[in-house]
Amino acid sequence: MTSTTTTPKILLTGATGYIGGTILSYLLDSSSPTLSTATISCLLRGPDRAAKLTATYGSRVNPIVYKDLDDIEATVAAAAEHDIIISTTHGWHGGSSQALIRGLAQRKAATGRDVWFVQTSGTSNVASKAMTKSDVEKEHRELDDLKDDIYAFEKERENEAAYAQRTVELAVVDTGLELGVKTLVIMSPTIYGFGKGLWNKLSIQIPMIASAVLKNKRPVVLGDGRGVWDHVHVEDLAELYLLVVRRILEKGGEGVPTGKKGIIFSGNGRHSSLDVTLGVADAFQAKGLLDDQELQSLTVSDVKKVMGAEMVSDDIVELSLASDSRTVSSVARGLGWNPTRGEEAWKREFKDVVEAVLAKAA
Ligand SMILES: NC(=O)c1ccc[n+]([C@@H]2O[C@H](COP(=O)([O-])OP(=O)(O)OC[C@H]3O[C@@H](n4cnc5c(N)ncnc54)[C@H](OP(=O)(O)O)[C@@H]3O)[C@@H](O)[C@H]2O)c1
Repeated sequence: MTSTTTTPKILLTGATGYIGGTILSYLLDSSSPTLSTATISCLLRGPDRAAKLTATYGSRVNPIVYKDLDDIEATVAAAAEHDIIISTTHGWHGGSSQALIRGLAQRKAATGRDVWFVQTSGTSNVASKAMTKSDVEKEHRELDDLKDDIYAFEKERENEAAYAQRTVELAVVDTGLELGVKTLVIMSPTIYGFGKGLWNKLSIQIPMIASAVLKNKRPVVLGDGRGVWDHVHVEDLAELYLLVVRRILEKGGEGVPTGKKGIIFSGNGRHSSLDVTLGVADAFQAKGLLDDQELQSLTVSDVKKVMGAEMVSDDIVELSLASDSRTVSSVARGLGWNPTRGEEAWKREFKDVVEAVLAKAA
């Protein structure tokens, strides 16, 4: 297969999701000359979704329908027609990211041009458990993506115990190096704010805590709630993805780290688990919806009961809801990323999420 165009073609996965939908909106709204007329391909499931994308965005979007993440053949074929892929589906699904990278390698062989893979991952990969403290010697370590070797840190953690999202992330880096595909992993902490996509507009963590507080009618927290995490507003995050894509399109990726160095953070603020619980509890209390204001500490098995079926293993529960993960986003800032949603937006989030959770429950 030989390409007839020299304009790099972009493929986005997860456009129906919170992160992916917001990135798509930012790519389409960009006034950058390289993007303002570009067509963005979206690999997604459901012909109805494809039709809605076309009805909303017209020819700016090229929907490619596949069965699902396990539809490897269709994934490789779609990737082989593109030069830059932004992947925002489940970060723990290895088969699909491997297929996308293999397709990109085919594209490179056909065109002789560089190909790029941007993987969405999460900072639970580098978190320390705050309850069982099995990584006690590493507790409360702050990682800086410019100063620290994040790849080596994750490899060491992975050798201690496999964690699916980290397993997949490391495999992305290794396969990219093996096949000559430039990879960049963007690791996000807790993402907040309303998404700008056409479907899911809500994040995961804060709505989950809010649902648990509503269900118990009192503030609940896993463990003592002292674990500290970073956060980033979803629109600031989308601006980082946009910046990276523009840097690739306009400057051949100058300054964008790849391979083992291409694992970067995206936090822009810090909070404890307790801050989130108390923030949403205050918002419910203001509406007179709590029976009791006393904080209840939950165990992992309590959490599994009240916080949703997708929480399958104790490790995932603890690493995502009772862990400590402190990161410094030096690389993104060095590239010119300037997140603007700060403390005010973070504080407003609790009220907004409570309204959204109540609307959903109504
Ligand atoms: N949100 C956060 O705070 C956060 C923080 C750090 C990292 N992350 C990482 O980012 C990923 C995406 O997060 P998100 O908040 O955007 O999640 P989301 O809103 O649930 O979006 C998930 C996307 O993946 C697609 N998907 C899921 N299962 C699929 C399947 N079997 N086949 C095809 N597509 C499938 C969904 O498509 P459908 O609409 O077809 O289901 C949707 O487009 C997470 O899984 C996690 O790895 C998220």
